[in-house]
Amino acid sequence: MLSDQSRPVIEQTIGVVAERIPFITPEFYRSMFEARPDLLDGLFSRANQRNGTQAQALAGSIAMFASWLLSHPEGYPEELLSRVAHKHASLGVLPEHYPVVHEHLFGAIARDLGDAATPEVVAAWDEVYWLMADALIRIEEGLYAGQANTVVFAPFRVAAKERAGSTTTAITLEPADGTPMTPAVAGQYVTVEVRMPDGVEQPRQFTLVPGPEGTRRIAVRLDARGEATPVLHHDVQVGDVLRISNPYGDVMLPDGDGPLVLASAGIGVTPMLAFLDRLVRQESQRQVLVLHADRSAEEWALRELHEMLVAELPHARLETWMEIPGEGDHDGFMDLGAVPIPAGAQVVLCGPLPFMQAVRSAVIAQGVPGRDVAYEILGPDQWMLHDEARET
Ligand code: HEM
Repeated sequence: MLSDQSRPVIEQTIGVVAERIPFITPEFYRSMFEARPDLLDGLFSRANQRNGTQAQALAGSIAMFASWLLSHPEGYPEELLSRVAHKHASLGVLPEHYPVVHEHLFGAIARDLGDAATPEVVAAWDEVYWLMADALIRIEEGLYAGQANTVVFAPFRVAAKERAGSTTTAITLEPADGTPMTPAVAGQYVTVEVRMPDGVEQPRQFTLVPGPEGTRRIAVRLDARGEATPVLHHDVQVGDVLRISNPYGDVMLPDGDGPLVLASAGIGVTPMLAFLDRLVRQESQRQVLVLHADRSAEEWALRELHEMLVAELPHARLETWMEIPGEGDHDGFMDLGAVPIPAGAQVVLCGPLPFMQAVRSAVIAQGVPGRDVAYEILGPDQWMLHDEARET
């Protein structure tokens, strides 16, 4: 809970701090990586630094946390904290990292705000930072303690590589040592460390898709302009060993036996495959409306598996939208105008941000309460930080 001294100071300064975040964050990262270049080897993503998404996400979440504390004096934004803690734990963030981020973030804030960074202002934002850091550290400790082992990364050998759509490769990984494997919950991801041509390791998260018992299987869609996916597509070979994390992620299949809507676009199909596999194993009788949008039928990743899992569920139905006319049930982007959402449905979305915003609005327009719409963003979350409607 925010102290009585800090509350009015945060109220007065949150506007200016939020406005200055785009200017503070590049300076924060510049100074941190100058002092600690090792953090760019295996922990932070260079690509996210370059395109600025992660920069905005980290500092933006502190402003969001502060505004939450102002409007909810009794509680914490659990959803935000949980998402960040899972991501951190998948990367091996430790309590001793927090003072490093603090030092460079607050150095950047002081430089940016100049005279406006009075001792009272700095003390109040310090309090916000440490409230958030302590909450994250506590959740992260619990996540680490819940694993079947005490390592962040374990070696896994590439057991198989298969084409799974015209731009996607499915990679099956089997343990390369005796580290016990934590069972994954459907919808979770692992961080994979990818060694770049310059020798630096770059972490990327991939949702686990159904695969042989005792393995981890991921589906990697090629981003030709990206840094890591071309290496996984072209350079990594069967027999190679990669370091991968325990499974993390808190977007799960909604419990119960009511109707479900699983709507995905592109590589956002991956958590849906895990959910459908879980439903098949449970011999679920739930009504499941499976909606998928893609560029073309050829690009649709793991299409056969997707169709097979739907076919195995007695009350599931699949409807598709393809940008290439004639290749799906509908042409173009997903449009739910003509697709009735079952009453009482729980909805899970995964895909690019504009897709999720459009589909979320469409299901809410059909009467689904905002709290029954869950989503998984592949990449830093730029939405939760701005989406006031999530509380409805
Ligand atoms: C990612 C917040 C401290 C390393 C993130 C994300 C947020 C965040 C919001 C994006 C999550 C997502 O949606 O994917 C915070 C806050 C912190 C904090 C509020 C302090 C109170 C740290 C520390 C480290 C760290 C101490 C380690 C030095 C990372 C890394 C990522 C990340 C490596 C993944 C992003 C990437 O490279 O793309 N953090 N973080 N964070 N954070 Fe933190």
